[in-house]
Amino acid sequence: MFDDLKVLYEEEEIQKRIGELAKEVDEYYGDDEDIVLISVLNGAMFFTTDLMKKMKTRPVLDTIQTASYIGTESTKKVMIRKDIDTDISGKKVLIVEDIIDSGRTLKKLREYFSDKDAKEIKIVVLLDKPERRVVDVHVDYVGFSIPNKFVVGYGFDIDGKGRNIPYIGYFDK
Ligand code: IMP
Ligand code: MG
Repeated sequence: MFDDLKVLYEEEEIQKRIGELAKEVDEYYGDDEDIVLISVLNGAMFFTTDLMKKMKTRPVLDTIQTASYIGTESTKKVMIRKDIDTDISGKKVLIVEDIIDSGRTLKKLREYFSDKDAKEIKIVVLLDKPERRVVDVHVDYVGFSIPNKFVVGYGFDIDGKGRNIPYIGYFDK
């Protein structure tokens, strides 16, 4: 199944770029306290741990899981499958997501955390597929902007598999 996978980003390139993102994030937060880093399961697990280890800022870590479904009028909706445990009211939230595609997940999460009275919400994504955007959402930090290809590895899955491939690959159909 993964034999035809081509390399998009090698492990070293991923780590180098994450190091740069960590630096940007650190420069912004400085020694601020009351920062809650929220990782979007399952895809962002790999990115989250590498990013956090490279950061000098010391946030609280929490996780959230979303799921997409078709709502009424056949529009795609995002629901919360596993919620955060932390009280984020009055706190600065940094959402860590693997990829922004249509933008629906991150739009939903921005609204969701804003309703929980977060003081500020920022978003960091490892990958961005700008061609695929359907809804408008502001992302603060982007690792790599990529063409419209389906990626697998480094947390990205196809039907739940391939997340533990150490590099980011794609299928060239
Ligand atoms: P969005 O809500 O459409 O922006 O979708 C975001 C979610 O779609 C991500 O969290 C991923 O789980 C998934 N996704 C989008 N593109 C890819 C891909 O190329 N490979 C694997 N998962 C993807
Ligand atoms: Mg995801």
